[in-house]
Amino acid sequence: MRVLGLCGSLRRDSHNRRLLAAAARVLGAGVEFEDWAGLEQVPPYSEDRDVTPAPSAVEDFRAALARADAVVIATPEYNHSVPGQLKNALDWASRPFPHNALRAKPVAVIGASTSLFGAVWAQAELRRVLAASGAHVIDEELPVASAHETLATDGSPRDRELQDALAGIIEQLRQAARAPSSGPRDQRTDAEGAVGFPVS
Ligand code: FNR
Repeated sequence: MRVLGLCGSLRRDSHNRRLLAAAARVLGAGVEFEDWAGLEQVPPYSEDRDVTPAPSAVEDFRAALARADAVVIATPEYNHSVPGQLKNALDWASRPFPHNALRAKPVAVIGASTSLFGAVWAQAELRRVLAASGAHVIDEELPVASAHETLATDGSPRDRELQDALAGIIEQLRQAARAPSSGPRDQRTDAEGAVGFPVS
């Protein structure tokens, strides 16, 4: 099994990148895990540039998603929402709709913040964005609050309940990856004839 990891933070000492490393360890040695390093290079989305071939960083991102059996995203929260660069990259990944690299892809969303809320709003919004793109989103959150205190140096949650929750989400991701035919959860887009959103 091949899993792509995405960190929504570009910060060098990101708590979320450490949390992603902890998720990779839970996945285990038998899983090929790639912590994708190209997020910062993805240009701003523009329909004018969304042609074939797309900008190389976008082609790389789409290829990395296509290669992966599943995806784990660890995101911080910026102003109660998803960090702009992560949202921007996912907008690129959502095209062409509906047969994009995210379609039916099992994706788990986890997140950490230094506040008491653990990036819950960002995680909820991110799950919505992913579902709109046709991904198979694991319907669980992992809110790691006060990350500067609650994460160990290696990114593992110190709290046993959080550790168990992380293990539970990863197990659900594994199961979803074993059953790829389960398809996207957002049936509404299918019912609309897989047309997706209007483009200019
Ligand atoms: C934040 N932070 C933050 N935290 C939160 O819980 N809710 C929020 O809305 C915000 N908003 C916000 C905006 C901006 C621009 C920054 C820079 C930060 C704090 C944030 O959770 C904290 O910086 C995390 O440590 C960022 O994650 P990484 O970089 O450690 O992974």
